Amino acid sequence: DHKITIAIDGFSSTGKSTVAKQLAKELSYVYVDTGAMYRAITLYAMRKKYITKDSFDEESLIKDLPSLHLKFVFEASRGFAAIYLNEENIEDEIRTMQVSQNVSRVSALSGVRKKLVSQQQQMGLEKGVVMDGRDIGTVVFPNAELKIFMTASADERANRRFKEMKEKGQEVSYDEVLKNVEERDLLDTTREDSPLVKAEDAIEIDNSTLNIDQQFQKILQLAKASI
Ligand code: C5P
Repeated sequence: DHKITIAIDGFSSTGKSTVAKQLAKELSYVYVDTGAMYRAITLYAMRKKYITKDSFDEESLIKDLPSLHLKFVFEASRGFAAIYLNEENIEDEIRTMQVSQNVSRVSALSGVRKKLVSQQQQMGLEKGVVMDGRDIGTVVFPNAELKIFMTASADERANRRFKEMKEKGQEVSYDEVLKNVEERDLLDTTREDSPLVKAEDAIEIDNSTLNIDQQFQKILQLAKASI
């Protein structure tokens, strides 16, 4: 049975993870949410007060990195894996607005990227993986057999994220969500180390006008053609 590596990159809240999860399920592949890993390190830095609204003690965070262990544990009740930081399930805590507001500063650090990219490459060694993020097709798996680059208008993306957060009972305004989506995209595309950019051989999908099932069918077709 021939297994491939599928890299899904794109801007914030383009629905990457929704489609990646469905695809992994359909193909019986492993799904890896790399954003969750950057969020986990960010949560840690916030708890330690290394990062606040206007300060960032990068050195202390980098020093602690070797003692931080991330893993994904499949949860049958949710049907997907939850992220753990040193034996603690932090899946819900990493999805807050506060973490979203700090994550792009943490993910810009080369020391953080080095650690996480290396773990991601380990997780994909046996192929049969669908990984979503910002640098999967460019840095983590430049040889991935299928690379997708997802885009959608900022407004559409903010709408989606806002609905998602509301459904989880989080107190946020639409404007706050839109501002965060735009800020993260700016930081993610302009950072020096591994900026978010479409890999040359990635297939771009603008899903502003595609519903979830249409996106899924389109990408599933591309995957089947690559396997
Ligand atoms: O995918 P998600 O929106 O959860 O990612 C959160 C943040 O993590 C991104 O805005 C980006 O700063 C960072 N990230 C990254 N590289 C990845 C995945 C996420 O820099 N491969």
